[in-house]
Amino acid sequence: MNKTATLTIEDKTYTLPVVEGSEGEKALDISTLRQQSGYITLDDGYGNTGSCKSKITFIDGEKGILRYRGIPIEELAEKSSFIETAYLIIYGELPNRKQLQRFSDLLTKCENLHEDMKYHFEGFPSTGHPMAILSSMINATSCFYPEVMKGYDPATFDLMAARLISQVRTIAAFAYRKAHGLPIIYPKPSYKYTANFLHMMFSEPYQDYELQPEVVWALDLIFLLHADHEQNCSTATVRFVASSRANLFASAAAGVCALWGPLHGGANQAVIEMLQQIHDSGDDGRKFIEMAKDKSSGKRLMGFGHRVYKNYDPRAKIIKARCDQLLKALKLNDPLLDIAKRLEEAALSDPYFIERKLYPNVDFYSGIIMRAIGIPIEMFTVIFAIGRMPGWIANYKEIMESGDSRIYRPRQIYVGPTVRPYMPLKNRP
Ligand code: CMC
Repeated sequence: MNKTATLTIEDKTYTLPVVEGSEGEKALDISTLRQQSGYITLDDGYGNTGSCKSKITFIDGEKGILRYRGIPIEELAEKSSFIETAYLIIYGELPNRKQLQRFSDLLTKCENLHEDMKYHFEGFPSTGHPMAILSSMINATSCFYPEVMKGYDPATFDLMAARLISQVRTIAAFAYRKAHGLPIIYPKPSYKYTANFLHMMFSEPYQDYELQPEVVWALDLIFLLHADHEQNCSTATVRFVASSRANLFASAAAGVCALWGPLHGGANQAVIEMLQQIHDSGDDGRKFIEMAKDKSSGKRLMGFGHRVYKNYDPRAKIIKARCDQLLKALKLNDPLLDIAKRLEEAALSDPYFIERKLYPNVDFYSGIIMRAIGIPIEMFTVIFAIGRMPGWIANYKEIMESGDSRIYRPRQIYVGPTVRPYMPLKNRP
């Protein structure tokens, strides 16, 4: 029997259907509430609102669980690769050998940008933030592929998705090279995804970048761990834009813009800036923790806290372990890692953080890995965007294939002035 809930407002009772997810999450379906009662629900920041049903990613924030298409993140981190995981996220199943080869070949085929796109990079100032370049260039890419403009088409979707995954990496590397006044390095078809990105970032026309397996492995893991995270700010933005039937590239470009903010993907850059500031000031972290607790300081402990996780972010656990391994393998000693560990220890035993259930999130240690690889700080959020692309594409596909999806259009409670007449300029004080 279908479960229902009853809601009483001003002596009238309304029956609302209860929707239950495959992992037991329960929701009240309030889609007819306004029609029935004249009321809407108010949920500033959508902390308690399910905006869609989705089969892609499951998170249990209380228990610190993350699964892509049912598979625990810990297993994928240990056994899979970013590209295999991307396939899983987009198509719902792990690929067999043939499917993986085909996907991989398609990515290689799509790795070069349209040659005319090179001129666009020249228009950006060298100080331009690579996230601005990335979102502009992803949107601009759609101009070169008229099929994209036609909107979602199952016949061309695989090619469009591969183009986006492959080219976001090429655009990111070109943006970096341009910002540093370096010649563009073209992709090498013989390289796998992550190795190819490192090659385009760090090779020189006269000398190939020496690929170290630990480095490739660590960056591939960072991509994989960022590949999807249910209805976070950027993915919800992608779905929002896609709900108007905007094309895949326009939707993904909007996702990049949403990701840029320091409360979201931009936090990985903000963490390193914070750690550097602590290091330079000679603080052992204690002063900063006090500031982060004081609302009037305007500071937060970046890389800590999460809307959904009220436990240790499972991605942060994996990244922290890999961080230690990588630094050891590269024989590096990063003082910022020591500060980060001290901050974590101090925060996890401080009542302020304990009461609010604030734990390290994915961004707390990822920057240390990226620094060790030699990726400049302004590229950190770009790395996040490359990793998140499969999740955005999967959500785009889900919305387009759902058949009954409507344009996203929340309501509001208006609290502005009530009706008043227009005052001519000469009469205004
Ligand atoms: N440092 C100090 N206090 C914090 C922090 C923090 N990092 N995060 C939350 N709080 C406090 C906040 O002030 C509030 O206190 P009170 O109840 O006294 O008003 C309480 O904890 C709840 O915080 P909130 O802002 O209502 O929580 P939220 O769910 O709206 O925000 C968040 C989540 C991630 C934006 C927030 O924790 C934050 O700003 N963290 C730092 C930025 C960060 O690391 N972002 C990356 C998130 S994970 C990756 C991603 O999504 O991109």
